[in-house]
Amino acid sequence: MVANHAQLVATMTRSASGIGRRGQLVAVEAATGEPVAFVPVSNVTAPGSWNVGLWVTPAKRGKGFSVEALRGVMELLHEVGVEVAHLGTAVDNEAMKAAAVRSGCTFDEVRPHKLPNGTTVMSNWYSHRAE
Ligand SMILES: CC(C)(COP(=O)(O)OP(=O)(O)OC[C@H]1O[C@@H](n2cnc3c(N)ncnc32)[C@H](O)[C@@H]1OP(=O)(O)O)[C@@H](O)C(=O)NCCC(=O)NCCS
Repeated sequence: MVANHAQLVATMTRSASGIGRRGQLVAVEAATGEPVAFVPVSNVTAPGSWNVGLWVTPAKRGKGFSVEALRGVMELLHEVGVEVAHLGTAVDNEAMKAAAVRSGCTFDEVRPHKLPNGTTVMSNWYSHRAE
């Protein structure tokens, strides 16, 4: 899938059973070929329920890659049949909250989010639905 300024590359890790439950899409800047945004995706909570995260390379922040990467990943997930994808971010992460809304996500609720490192942060939760 090719976005305006970046191209998405997918990786999906395989579990012991051979079925990937976690993966990552990488947005590569078209002009330089450099990776600029990393979008972890997982469906570990329930079948059909996908979670999406986002990390933009510090030097490439403030250039709109977050919105572009999120839009591209949501489009890809819906293309392969995922009806709804979820995204949670800390209640004070203003840039991520703005990126979620700008990429077409709908705000759902505030509830705790357990991070991979074991800590829990109060988070805004959003969803993105197939049209
Ligand atoms: C959060 C993060 C992904 C944003 O990426 P970015 O490339 O800087 O975002 P953008 O430049 O595309 O900006 C996204 C939106 O946030 C807005 N924004 C940026 N900083 C802001 C701030 N401090 N307050 C309010 N809005 C802000 C931008 O104006 C933009 O909105 P717009 O498109 O309506 O103008 C990036 O800072 C990051 O990777 N942070 C570390 C990891 C992280 O927090 N990930 C989210 C965890 S789920």
